[in-house]
Amino acid sequence: MRAGVGCEMINSKVEGALNDQIRKEFYSSYLYLSMAAQFESMNLKGFAHWMQVQANEETKHAMKIYGHVNERGGKVILQQIDAPPFSWKSAKEMFLEAYRHEQKVTESINKIVELARAEKDNASEIFLQWFVNEQVEEESSTNEITQKLQLLGDNAPALIMLDAELGKRQKP
Ligand SMILES: [Fe+2]
Ligand SMILES: [Fe+2]
Repeated sequence: MRAGVGCEMINSKVEGALNDQIRKEFYSSYLYLSMAAQFESMNLKGFAHWMQVQANEETKHAMKIYGHVNERGGKVILQQIDAPPFSWKSAKEMFLEAYRHEQKVTESINKIVELARAEKDNASEIFLQWFVNEQVEEESSTNEITQKLQLLGDNAPALIMLDAELGKRQKP
């Protein structure tokens, strides 16, 4: 929807940064789907399920931003999404990468919050608060699973148990 007369249009710098963030969220989805596929090939169905739910969630993040840009009278311009890695040595390696990736996403969100503040785009600043909270959850969940994987080491039965636990993740 185009913003009508009297509505504050999205700031153009913020619009650009949000368009780039849409790309990053789709890349996150791609990355986690690639990890899901790797878990499938390792026959760790619970881990694969967890990553697939995560990949879907990332698509929703991208679409949330898509909605905001449109609602504010901006224009969504989709960008090229890089191919994610497709091979990892272990579950631990994947979750560590997911955790580090989410730390980078948090940094990126924080930068856009600062930009929105500097440009006095209040609506975008408030919109982004949801993402600030979401990133706390994303970092904490990927870090927690990484820690568990570090603890269990080469213990196969413990890995199978964690696989069963992660398989219970609810689809939002
Ligand atoms: Fe995200
Ligand atoms: Fe989340």
